Amino acid sequence: MSDAAARGAALEALAVEIEACRACPLGSSRTRSVPGEGSPTAEIVFVGEGPGATEDVEGRPFVGAAGRLLGGLLALIGLRRDDVYILNVVKCHPPANRDPEPEEVAACAPFLRRQMEILDPLIVAPLGRHALHSFAPAAKISAAHGSVVSPAAGAPIPTDATLLPLYHPAAALHNGSLRPTLERDVAALARALDPARARRAAARGAGGAATLSQMQEPPEQHQLRLFEGENP
Ligand code: URA
Repeated sequence: MSDAAARGAALEALAVEIEACRACPLGSSRTRSVPGEGSPTAEIVFVGEGPGATEDVEGRPFVGAAGRLLGGLLALIGLRRDDVYILNVVKCHPPANRDPEPEEVAACAPFLRRQMEILDPLIVAPLGRHALHSFAPAAKISAAHGSVVSPAAGAPIPTDATLLPLYHPAAALHNGSLRPTLERDVAALARALDPARARRAAARGAGGAATLSQMQEPPEQHQLRLFEGENP
């Protein structure tokens, strides 16, 4: 089996688990789970906050207005959606588009981590402050956007991957003045590819492609028990 086929199969198996998950209340209120989609061997993985109403119906990430803008930004750097992987911190739509609760983020965190283990991305691009929080809680999106940021200890990212956050496309839909910034930041993302490849090659040596992803050690997953404890 090719590398792409093996990773694709692992992602599909994980999507089945995500669809069955009821670890938090969103699993019961959503229409469809939204595990993510794209190339299983993508160098760049974009991470949104959580599915919106359109995504909830279609079961695919970023297919509404923000997704159309994301597609346009990708085109600026010569990429299509199929060239990258797009996923969210939480895989189920929070009702009325509210922000996911910390307990919901914690319940979904093992899925995010396993997706990152399978995808082993070169660059992780969190979209907006909520997604950035899962990788670098102390960073502010207003300062970090378009720059390489150090992930927090235990963040769900391979140790030799590059973290480069962007504003959420929806922010540019609400505030048009952010759009040129997003365009500049996407160009910075494209320029970061070669240094990120060099960094990975230095970390993994000549046989790098075959080396298994080395993830940061996960933090204690005690928050998950919040939900387990609720079931007598
Ligand atoms: N916003 C997100 O953060 N994710 C989606 O999938 C769609 C909109």
